[in-house]
Amino acid sequence: MPDAAHQPVDMSGLATESHQPKSALDAEAVRAAYRRWANIYDTVFGGISAFGRRRAVDAVNNLRGDRVLEVGVGTGLALPHYRADKIITGIDLSEAMLAKARERVAREALGNVAALHEMDAEATDFADDSFDIAVAMFVASVVPNPRRLLAELKRVVRPGGHVLFVNHFLATGGVRLLCERAMARASHSLGWHPDFALEALLTESDIRKAKITPVPPLGLFTLVTLQCDDET
Ligand SMILES: C[S@@+](CC[C@H](N)C(=O)[O-])C[C@H]1O[C@@H](n2cnc3c(N)ncnc32)[C@H](O)[C@@H]1O
Repeated sequence: MPDAAHQPVDMSGLATESHQPKSALDAEAVRAAYRRWANIYDTVFGGISAFGRRRAVDAVNNLRGDRVLEVGVGTGLALPHYRADKIITGIDLSEAMLAKARERVAREALGNVAALHEMDAEATDFADDSFDIAVAMFVASVVPNPRRLLAELKRVVRPGGHVLFVNHFLATGGVRLLCERAMARASHSLGWHPDFALEALLTESDIRKAKITPVPPLGLFTLVTLQCDDET
């Protein structure tokens, strides 16, 4: 299986090597992992991640603008929680996960979900400035090139709009750091990177501009809200 970390991509301006997770997931590895996860994802991961997801959706609901792109929409766990006036477009690489999201939209008659597309969040088909808000929940630590994901979301969000991430980021010390480094060896089976650092996603300048808030109760997840510059 090709490893995205070893493909000849121009990484200049992207995250420095020390911030890269040790084991990158390419698109095929993501699809394979989430084909396995799709049927059990909500049971295994839905509960523990619910606080982070709800916090991100609340933040989206409180921002101006109704055109929302949810990238890595997965099984659609967040979809029922958007305010009815937010018009949601969801994308995901995994058809197996999208199938679950489509079932949810039908079952819960979610009329504000405009579309669910199989699409790569790092290289979407959307025109510039198509959305007011883009949100990625537990996705940044899965994609091969998080900085490319961020650049793509900035492109499709209008100037002055917002890009939000909720994710688990690598601890900066202590036992948690040791555990996360050890767990990183299982990235391919897990389908995400336990050793994903905030700096792999955000530049220093983004970090200065972003609102970065730990999500209670345990602070295991962090919500990042970035407002797009007028010139982006
Ligand atoms: C950990 S799951 C999170 C799902 C959902 N956001 C949630 O909160 O439950 C990560 C999702 O991101 C998707 N994904 C990973 N890489 C992607 C990419 N490059 N483009 C679009 N979706 C991607 C996976 O297929 C998977 O559904």
